[in-house]
Amino acid sequence: MDYSKLKVPNHVAIIVDGNGRWATEKGMSRSEGHNEGFINLKKLSAYIFSKKIKYLSAYLFSTENFKRSKMEVNFLMNLLNSKQKEILEFCHEEKIKVVFSGRKEKLSEKVIEAMRIIEKETSIYKDKLFNICFNYGGHAEIIDATKKIVKDIQNGKLDIDKLDENTFNKYLYQNLPPIDLMIRTSGEQRLSNFMLWQNSYAEFYFPKTYFPDFDENEFDKAILEYTKRDRRYGGIDYENKNN
Ligand code: IPE
Ligand code: IPE
Ligand code: MG
Repeated sequence: MDYSKLKVPNHVAIIVDGNGRWATEKGMSRSEGHNEGFINLKKLSAYIFSKKIKYLSAYLFSTENFKRSKMEVNFLMNLLNSKQKEILEFCHEEKIKVVFSGRKEKLSEKVIEAMRIIEKETSIYKDKLFNICFNYGGHAEIIDATKKIVKDIQNGKLDIDKLDENTFNKYLYQNLPPIDLMIRTSGEQRLSNFMLWQNSYAEFYFPKTYFPDFDENEFDKAILEYTKRDRRYGGIDYENKNN
């Protein structure tokens, strides 16, 4: 689809959901579903960035996902290090900078090392930022930011009276612009602890499609829906579409 005449969002966020059901319905293992999800995420992210969308966030593992079976947690945990080479090749080809958001505790040294290498090697790219939320929780992020803020107030680096939304944003895992369009695949209509601060004025879109099937055409539909929304931010300007 031609996006050149559309007002595209600056920051798109995706809750990758439905990999398990996609696989189960096909008589496959949940791991195979996650693998398909990974393949699709690569294709879809290249497409999204090709449309001049600068920021993409994806939710790949929540702080709550440790409740799943040991086998599934292990598979998801090992995705990053087992696919490290493939991820790096892809990012270099597409010139994508990757950052990881989430708590490092509970992650193995191998996974942390893979994250470090991917972040370091892709830090040269400037125009496309891919924020991967891994062992991420929105509550955890706000608590972690608050702790850093209190420390900086205590050691005199931050004046409490200067603490506003902009400053708070800088203490989050990444200093990202607000999310414009938040997509959750698979039909679930909830945030499940995803980027609570950054989603404050996002437009939400909930397609029924399972993530492995959420392709370029499905994304075009999301964008068309987004362009029809009136983003008023509390104001009353009904004429000015998307501001
Ligand atoms: C992928 O989808 C999201 C992850 C937590 C990795 P799910 O694994 O939640 O798939 P469903 O919801 O069980 O179908
Ligand atoms: C949210 O999906 C977490 C990720 C996509 C990483 P879940 O499938 O874990 O969420 P719930 O349990 O349905 O709320
Ligand atoms: Mg799910």
